Amino acid sequence: MMNLWCDYVRRAYGSALGRSRRELTSPALIMDLDVARRNIQFMTQRLSTMRAKLRPHVKCQKSPELARLQIEAGAIGVCTATVWEAIVMSQSGIRDVLIANQVGGREKIGALARAARHGRLTVAVDHPQNADDLSGAVQAAGSTLEVLIEVDVGMGRGGVRSADEAVALAQHLVKLPGLRFRGLQGYEGHCMLEPDRATRIQKACAAMDYLGTVIDRLSAAGFACEAVSAGGTGTYDITGNNPRVTEIQAGSYVFMDNFHGNLVPGFSRALTVLGTVVIQHGRTIVLDSGRKSVGIDFVLPTLLDYPFYQARYFAEEHALFDVDERCSLKLGDTVELIPGYAPTTVNLYDAYHVVEKDVVVDIWPIVPRGAGHGGLLIGDL
Ligand SMILES: Cc1ncc(COP(=O)(O)O)c(C=O)c1O
Repeated sequence: MMNLWCDYVRRAYGSALGRSRRELTSPALIMDLDVARRNIQFMTQRLSTMRAKLRPHVKCQKSPELARLQIEAGAIGVCTATVWEAIVMSQSGIRDVLIANQVGGREKIGALARAARHGRLTVAVDHPQNADDLSGAVQAAGSTLEVLIEVDVGMGRGGVRSADEAVALAQHLVKLPGLRFRGLQGYEGHCMLEPDRATRIQKACAAMDYLGTVIDRLSAAGFACEAVSAGGTGTYDITGNNPRVTEIQAGSYVFMDNFHGNLVPGFSRALTVLGTVVIQHGRTIVLDSGRKSVGIDFVLPTLLDYPFYQARYFAEEHALFDVDERCSLKLGDTVELIPGYAPTTVNLYDAYHVVEKDVVVDIWPIVPRGAGHGGLLIGDL
């Protein structure tokens, strides 16, 4: 199914090949491959001075091609938010895939267990019931799964709430056939939004210090953590320097939307959405790339060539800007927007228009498309 979808997308968008990035049919998702490569290189170089390795989070990009570039640059594997993303990555040949999230629901757990027949899959667990369900499914599928116990390090989302709970869950896990305890996940998501770098450092270090106490308690109870997975784009150089952390889960660094770009220096914007000026009255221009075309979570999108304008608002199909004499855009002109938040932009599209030197050189499918299984349940699971 995955290959069928990818072939279809490449054909459906193939007429864009060779065209200039500004001449595409808008709204269109554009990835500047030179910039993405530079971002991958920069992250590789930064992490090479730290103990932790990189396990890029691919929930943002949903692209096996991009994941392959990250692996070639030295990433140890990838992590995903959903079982479907994990299946795509595993089927694409990535040998070590972590679902950095809980997988719940009979059908999803069954799909995970069947996919684990073909590649190394690890999943985050924070509840004995979920562990029981996973163990039952892998026994039925004839596969095995590796498991990280997720620890809540301050975000208050997933994760066991204490070291006692972590030890009890580890003791439970080792009794379950088909599951192998591999270590901990402690995602400090509550630190990513912190605009003040000193406060972010202090909060991220406190979160990892706490994770360290859980590692020690597990070790005292006889459970060695070979993997300790944490971090994101907002904390990669803080958490990556923590000697207890073995891998960093940063993902958005590859594109650098406005949300991350405003917080983390050194990376450039690689992802844009093309819009066309479809309405112009006086100083007001309206683009055809509204909130159904570009993610507006946390921070609003901005215009690539006119970063000083703030949007008045984003409606479903309209992005409205009030401009002045610095803006030369006219009705029918195209312009690129930098997404406010890339992860909720990419999943709106079928494909990236991959550009080099401003010309479309390739079409890379986004898989799985949208929310959920994106058709993966049909066929080859
Ligand atoms: C479990 C987990 N790890 C890592 C990340 C970091 O992702 P990013 O680098 O895109 O901020 C996220 C983001 O939501 C996450 O949920």
